[in-house]
Amino acid sequence: MSNKMWGGRFEGGPDAIMEAINVSIDVDRHLYAQDIAASKAHAAMLSAQGIIAADDAKNIAQGLDTILSEITQGTFTFKRALEDIHMNVESRLAELIGPGAGRLHTARSRNDQVATDFKLWVRDTIDALDTALAEYQRALVERALEHADTVMPGFTHLQTAQPVTFGHHLLAYVEMAARDRGRFADARKRLNESPLGSAALAGTSFPIDRFATAKALGFDRPTANSLDAVSDRDFVLETLSAAAIASVHLSRFAEEIVIWTSPLVGLIRLSDKFTTGSSIMPQKRNPDAAELVRAKTGRIIGSLNALLIVMKGLPLAYQKDMQEDKEGAMDALGALALAINAMTGMVRDLIADKARMEQAAGDGYATATDLADWLVRTLKMPFREAHHVTGRIVAKAAEAGVALDALPLATMQVVEPRITAEALAVLSVQSSVASRTSFGGTAPKNVREQAEAWRKRLENDAISR
Ligand code: ARG
Repeated sequence: MSNKMWGGRFEGGPDAIMEAINVSIDVDRHLYAQDIAASKAHAAMLSAQGIIAADDAKNIAQGLDTILSEITQGTFTFKRALEDIHMNVESRLAELIGPGAGRLHTARSRNDQVATDFKLWVRDTIDALDTALAEYQRALVERALEHADTVMPGFTHLQTAQPVTFGHHLLAYVEMAARDRGRFADARKRLNESPLGSAALAGTSFPIDRFATAKALGFDRPTANSLDAVSDRDFVLETLSAAAIASVHLSRFAEEIVIWTSPLVGLIRLSDKFTTGSSIMPQKRNPDAAELVRAKTGRIIGSLNALLIVMKGLPLAYQKDMQEDKEGAMDALGALALAINAMTGMVRDLIADKARMEQAAGDGYATATDLADWLVRTLKMPFREAHHVTGRIVAKAAEAGVALDALPLATMQVVEPRITAEALAVLSVQSSVASRTSFGGTAPKNVREQAEAWRKRLENDAISR
């Protein structure tokens, strides 16, 4: 039997393999709410413009409401023979209200319909991701305030570099998340034009009001070019790019958590809620959630890559290739939401080993720069020379097998006779971080100020749109 929605010129039905490659209902069924909302807006506009009768519009709207509740209650039967969500809904509408259902598709096509539905879905998803990112930021800010004074080693090249505060480290991720939110907000702003009424590709001869449907669906305006509207998926690409960058940020923090929880490092401990055990080694506490956040980045970047490749070289206007946009995007954005929530949970519960952090902060001559800075400030030594002098003192400490602040003053004076006892005071990790008060620096005072400012900003914060 030929397809009842478009089979007029067909005698036979599709091959089973044709149906298998063509069907998208398993994926686009997730667009049901958006599909129904867009159809309701379209029907209301058709009636307001006198294109269909008010009675038909009323029946259509009621039928669509019935379908919505059937789907949410799980009583709706999705049919693969009907390919996608659009035809599943329209076909059921015909069962419910009769031939009047056939008027709904006046002055539209599945091409503008799917672009509209998916934009609405992506928009809703961006809003949900933004809420999750704000919650993640709040968790980081609270822990940063708590740990404004906690000293830990700061690393470059994963080598102990200079002491920093744990609060400062946490606030670094707040900044990253803020830029991630900014990227999603940008994508949202650009996507918020309605394709509905672009029809198949050329627009329509019916006197439709695209501004009315755009407004009804919360879009800022209708898209200005019908060919562009049905044939572009840059709104998905842009959202996936933002998602890929956000997931890269999360993966970096996840990796740090994996490193920090290793018994070799031991800077933090995850709560039981975010740790798993080993089936063979009873002592193990595995940071699986952090590892999986790190790994989810793969599929998120992969989806972006896949859709870029699908879109590359596609001529105008709609091509069926574009049906491949949804599965990867839904998977990727779902994975990102989960990753954000997992990080929020880990951040809320993690226990910092303050003593271990402080001890590690002093390892590896982390305050050598402070000594060099003292030589510059007090002895007016050029920094390059101070760097060299300090290097020689570090070598002496290494030779003696002691920390920098445990090296006798007399030994330092062998290298530079003008060094006084005052210099020793700058060598503690606490005074090191306390001195880093330059704007954006790690001093506890700065961290407290920044964290308080973020707390205020995040209090009643929604995406800046
Ligand atoms: N399921 C299709 C998609 O996701 C809907 C649009 C189909 N349009 C068409 N002309 N066959 O892209």
